[in-house]
Order: sequence, then structure tokens, then C-alpha cells
Amino acid sequence: MSLIKLLTFKDLSDDRGGLAALEQGINIPFDIKRVYYLFKTKESTSRGFHAHKKLKQVVVCLSGSCRFVLDNGAVREEILLNDPLQGLYIDSFIWREMYDFSSNCILMVLASELFQEDDYIRDYQEFLNVFRE
Ligand code: TYD
Repeated sequence: MSLIKLLTFKDLSDDRGGLAALEQGINIPFDIKRVYYLFKTKESTSRGFHAHKKLKQVVVCLSGSCRFVLDNGAVREEILLNDPLQGLYIDSFIWREMYDFSSNCILMVLASELFQEDDYIRDYQEFLNVFRE
């Protein structure tokens, strides 16, 4: 089974422009406790390099593009996000890396939990050890 789980949002666009709606429990599969966004991204900079113990997220690329690598400790897969009508669902215990940001990239992230640093696994070896235990 692929690690890449893409949600496709209904296109509510009309001749005035684009529109999509994200609704908890309807097209977002968790209660949304936090929204954050990445902007003024840098083409040469990679981010992420962590997994979460509990947190689930949906990432939407509102503008521009970037590449995501997802890794479950056994399989590594990659996807280009460049469509505001698609959301990348990232479950807990998935290692993620982001790179190749376009200069106009805006990534919006819906999160199932408030920010908690102790939910992060920032060491790849520690992440792999979770599966061996
Ligand atoms: P981090 O999640 O490590 O960034 P990325 O995965 O994009 O590389 O977050 C960067 C810093 O911002 C880190 O010190 C934690 C802090 N932060 C918050 O305080 N609240 C938040 O909601 C997020 C996502 C990060």
C-alpha cells in the first residue's frame, strides 16, 4: 500500500476564481486543532526531517510547488505537491522531508493536535528504532 495518501477536494471554482472548502470530519479525517503555514520558502532549503508520535496532518500546497518525501521506516516515497485541490494526508509515525520549494510556495498544514515539541521524533535512527522495538 502506498504511503502517499492524497485527498482530493471538491473544486468550487467558478469564473470569478478558485475556491475549495476544508471541513473537519467531512473531507479532513480528524478534528482540526491547529493550522500553520510555510511561506517565503527558499528554493535551496530542505525542511522537515522528523516524524510525529501522535500528530496527523493534511498538507495543502496553496501556491507554487514543493516535493515531499515520506518514509515509514521500510519504504520511502516521493510526491510533488502543486495543486491546491489536493491534500497530502500524513499519519503519525511517518518521517517527512520537504525540498525543491518554488519561490512562491505556500504550504498550509492542518494538524490534529496543538504544538508539542515532545511529539516530535527528530532523529532518523530513533525513528527506525521505534519499529525494531
Ligand atoms: P518544525 O516543525 O521543526 O519545522 P519544519 O518541519 O517545517 O522544518 O518547526 C520549526 C520551529 O517552529 C520549531 O522550533 C518548532 C516551532 N513551531 C511552533 O512553535 N509551532 C508550530 O505549530 C510549528 C509547526 C512549529
